[in-house]
Amino acid sequence: MKRSLTGIRATGNLHIGNYLGAIREGVRLQEEYECLYFIADMHSLTTNKDPNLLRMQSLDIAASWIACGLDTQKHLLYRQSDIPVVAEFAWYLSCCTGMGLLQKAHSYKDAIANEKEVNHGVFAYPVLMAADILMYDPDVVPVGKDQKQHVEMSRDMAGSVNSLYGEGVLKLPEPLINEKVMVIPGLDGRKMSKSYNNEIPLFSSEKELRKKVMSITTDSTALEAPKTLDGTLVGQLFSFFASQGEYEDLNKRLSKGGLGWGHAKEELFQAINREIKEARDRYQALRSDEDQLNGILEEGRDKALKIGIPVLNRLREAVGMSPQTCSFKKI
Ligand code: ADP
Ligand code: TRP
Repeated sequence: MKRSLTGIRATGNLHIGNYLGAIREGVRLQEEYECLYFIADMHSLTTNKDPNLLRMQSLDIAASWIACGLDTQKHLLYRQSDIPVVAEFAWYLSCCTGMGLLQKAHSYKDAIANEKEVNHGVFAYPVLMAADILMYDPDVVPVGKDQKQHVEMSRDMAGSVNSLYGEGVLKLPEPLINEKVMVIPGLDGRKMSKSYNNEIPLFSSEKELRKKVMSITTDSTALEAPKTLDGTLVGQLFSFFASQGEYEDLNKRLSKGGLGWGHAKEELFQAINREIKEARDRYQALRSDEDQLNGILEEGRDKALKIGIPVLNRLREAVGMSPQTCSFKKI
């Protein structure tokens, strides 16, 4: 079975956009690939300087993935920082990576352009990300379009290592970009994003979810007037959660007049709630048992070490270190 690997940054509460754009797709890939998903907490450190928040958010993300259907018996979910030798791996890559390549990274250029803090972690981010990837020999790396460049940089770094130390030391992965994954609009019609404060949270209470859906801005067409879902925000969101038949049925009822937007929003709420209700219950149960969650992450760490340490040893040997001195030599 081919291997797929991706990292998820632990930042804030997940919203419906994250769910449709990243999680639902990641869960689907389990059928085709052996999946390695990890919580990129070391990456979060470039911006998040609140230790308790970081710890909590890592567990939130872990619980969300499991609640949404990631099967941790068959696949791997681990915390990046539980495998600290990834930083050692990154060092070997750093020594083969030109400054010029890193200066081209969008993440670094954006940080400068937007006058954000540019610490060394921000600059070296693509090297650590390449280590996250290359240490596990994946075939594909599913990411959003914004991360494509980083995956390509990891291929460049693997190529440099191989040309210096011998072909086949590191395996070159392919980015996997799902062009069909749509941009989910938020409550104000712009891309749903934490940064715009326009999100519908994934795991809020039912009451809160209804309130958020009811707050979607609609036009003030009179109740009796005929309406259409097509081209409206309510319609767009409804299409992601309802079947085509349900969409057409609601649209037909709206077109006859006498049905208000409040009613359409209620049906949208019902459709979202139907899809996430069970996941929400699972999330709450998982999140209230941190020992269980940490246990799942420890199992993931052990399985990930079995894959990663032989690759690290391969690289150590290639560059002139002794694999024997590696603390995980028994694996
Ligand atoms: P945010 O914009 O809220 O900060 P992130 O950048 O942390 O979200 O995104 C995490 C994941 O969720 C990424 O894979 C991203 O592609 C996906 N994602 C975020 N917002 C949306 C959206 N509105 N539509 C589709 N996918 C999204
Ligand atoms: N940089 C990615 C993001 O911001 C997260 C990430 C870290 C990642 N390491 C990775 C993604 C390795 C794929 C593979 O979303």
